[in-house]
Amino acid sequence: MTNLVSPELSFHDGNSIPQLGYGVWKVEDDVATDVVVQAFAAGYRHIDTARIYGNEEGVGRAIAATDVPREDMFITTKVWNADQGYESTLSAFDASMERLGLEYLDLYLIHWLQPKQGKYVDTWKALIELQKSGRVKSIGVCNFTVEALAELEEATGVLPVINQVETHPYFPQTELREFEASKGILHQSWSPLGQGSELLADPALVAIAEKHNATVAQVVIAWHLALGNVVIPKSVTPSRIVENHAGLGVTLDESDIAAINALDKGAAGRIAADPAVSDFA
Ligand SMILES: NC(=O)c1ccc[n+]([C@@H]2O[C@H](COP(=O)([O-])OP(=O)(O)OC[C@H]3O[C@@H](n4cnc5c(N)ncnc54)[C@H](OP(=O)(O)O)[C@@H]3O)[C@@H](O)[C@H]2O)c1
Repeated sequence: MTNLVSPELSFHDGNSIPQLGYGVWKVEDDVATDVVVQAFAAGYRHIDTARIYGNEEGVGRAIAATDVPREDMFITTKVWNADQGYESTLSAFDASMERLGLEYLDLYLIHWLQPKQGKYVDTWKALIELQKSGRVKSIGVCNFTVEALAELEEATGVLPVINQVETHPYFPQTELREFEASKGILHQSWSPLGQGSELLADPALVAIAEKHNATVAQVVIAWHLALGNVVIPKSVTPSRIVENHAGLGVTLDESDIAAINALDKGAAGRIAADPAVSDFA
């Protein structure tokens, strides 16, 4: 446990989100309980899960087991592609809340755009209704393009508070982030460590880490924080859960940030699917 406390970033709907959170993609349900309890103990208060991760029950058990008060937590889950559409999203939300064991949710997100499926506007209308009911405090999206964000605004007059998208030094999403900032939408980085791949061995990052007596993962987390991104690194390794949280204590200078910004590989930096065209069940 560090004494570090995550900054809170304000949403345009009046609520706020801890800037550093803990993601649980690819964490088995029975493992999720243990690691989320460890994450709370390390100081995280923001947990990012999803229906498709298959671990909402495990996360719910951790929420029930920890002595962190519910009002100090920030819990996110997401509506899966197969559940998109107005009525099916309302049902999917009920099922997620049942698995999580929660009375209210802090943030509900559309998981993918799914442009060929073409149900995201109806899905968004369901999220608006859920927010009006008070069962979810804030609503947002993942993997949305500039065009799709604009379409939601035009169709409903309501913009997401956040867009959660693949973002790391090799793929920093500069244009999307600029558009979001112009609309008051926060940017959330998924796979912020590049999924722990070659990014963490990058010589430029290793040099900055040595300069700050920090690890490369901590430097990358500090870069996301400095840019104003909400960041949700995942680890099931106890020492890394603590290490990543301690990234809050690393302060980069302007030359570090410029050097990290220069690692942008353009489209070649993307690891996962392109939301503008991907369409999967
Ligand atoms: N909305 C979406 O479509 C979407 C898509 C992908 C992810 N996400 C969210 O974003 C979260 C984070 O993304 P991610 O899980 O894809 O990738 P990530 O956080 O970039 O990287 C996780 C990988 O890095 C390793 N790692 C973590 N900390 C490390 C450290 N300090 N040193 C070295 N290796 C480290 C982890 O290994 P160990 O676990 O073995 O320690 C794991 O293999 C997810 O868990 C999920 O909540 C959302």
